[in-house]
Amino acid sequence: MSNLPTEQISKLLDIAILAARAGGVVLDSYWGKQLNIREKGRAGDLITEVDQKAEAEILKVIKRHYPDHAILAEESGIMGTSDNQYLWVIDPLDGTTNYAHSYPQAAVSVGLIVSGIPTVGVVYNPMLKELWSAAQGLGATLNNIPIQVSTTDKLGNSLLVTGFAYDRRETEDNNYSEFCYLTHLTQGVRRGGSASLDLCHVATGRLDGYWERGLKPWDLLGGIVILKEAGGKISAYDGSEFDLYSGRILATNGYLHSALSQALLNTPHGADLSFK
Ligand code: IPD
Ligand code: CA
Ligand code: CA
Repeated sequence: MSNLPTEQISKLLDIAILAARAGGVVLDSYWGKQLNIREKGRAGDLITEVDQKAEAEILKVIKRHYPDHAILAEESGIMGTSDNQYLWVIDPLDGTTNYAHSYPQAAVSVGLIVSGIPTVGVVYNPMLKELWSAAQGLGATLNNIPIQVSTTDKLGNSLLVTGFAYDRRETEDNNYSEFCYLTHLTQGVRRGGSASLDLCHVATGRLDGYWERGLKPWDLLGGIVILKEAGGKISAYDGSEFDLYSGRILATNGYLHSALSQALLNTPHGADLSFK
C-alpha cells in the first residue's frame, strides 16, 4: 500500500480524470475525420496527429497541477528522474489502429505510480462515453458506477481477450498458437485492439480474462489499477509476480487465473502457423 492519506489519493484521481478528459476532447474532435497517419517504424505501428495532440493536452493538465512529478508518456518519453516518488504513465491513444479505421475501441490511459506502487488509473473511451477510474483502496467505477469482475470459474464457460504485438511477423513468439489453443478451450477469444480497454472489459465482467505479450507500461498501467480494484488478479503468465516492464501480462477475474496460466504454459506449438 502507498502511505498516502485517502484525501490525497482522491485528489490525484481527480487530476488523472481531468487529464484523461482533456485527451479525450482531442480524440473526439478528430473522430471520423481524415487523419494524417504514418508508420512509426514497424509495419502496422501507426501514429497520427491525434496521438501527439492528445498527449500534449494530457501533459498540460498534469504539469499544471504537479510540476515536480515525473512522467513517462508514449510519444514524449521520460520526463524527470527515476528517484521521483511520483511517476505518471500515459498512453494518449491506446488503440491507434482501431481509431484510424473509425472502429470505436480506443482510449486515453492515465496511470500513476506512487513509491513504486500502481495507485491511480483512468481509462477513457470518449467515442462510447465510457470512463473507468480507480484508485488504490477506493474501488473501481465505470461512469461513476462501481464495477466488479465476473465469477466465471471454468475456461469452458469463459470469454477471453488477447492481442498481437507489432513485432508479430518477426518472431515465432507471436501468440498465434496460444490464440488458437484458447479459442479451442473457451467460448471465444476476442482481439480488442486496445490493451487498456481489454483490461477494463475484464474489470467490468464483460470478459473473463486477458493475456498478451509485447506490451509497454503505458498500455497497461491505468487498466491494471482498475482491474485490481474491481477484484481482478494480474501476474506473469506462470502466475509469478507481475513486472510492468516485462511486456507480458496475465489478467483475470481471479477465479480463472490458474486454469488460464496452465493453458498458456501447456499450449502446443507444433502446428505450422508461420504462414511462410
Ligand atoms: C497497442 C494496443 C493493442 C496491443 C498493442 C499495443 P497502441 O497500443 O494496446 O491492443 O495489442 O501491442 O501497442 O499502439 O494502439 O497505443
Ligand atoms: Ca498503447
Ligand atoms: Ca498509443
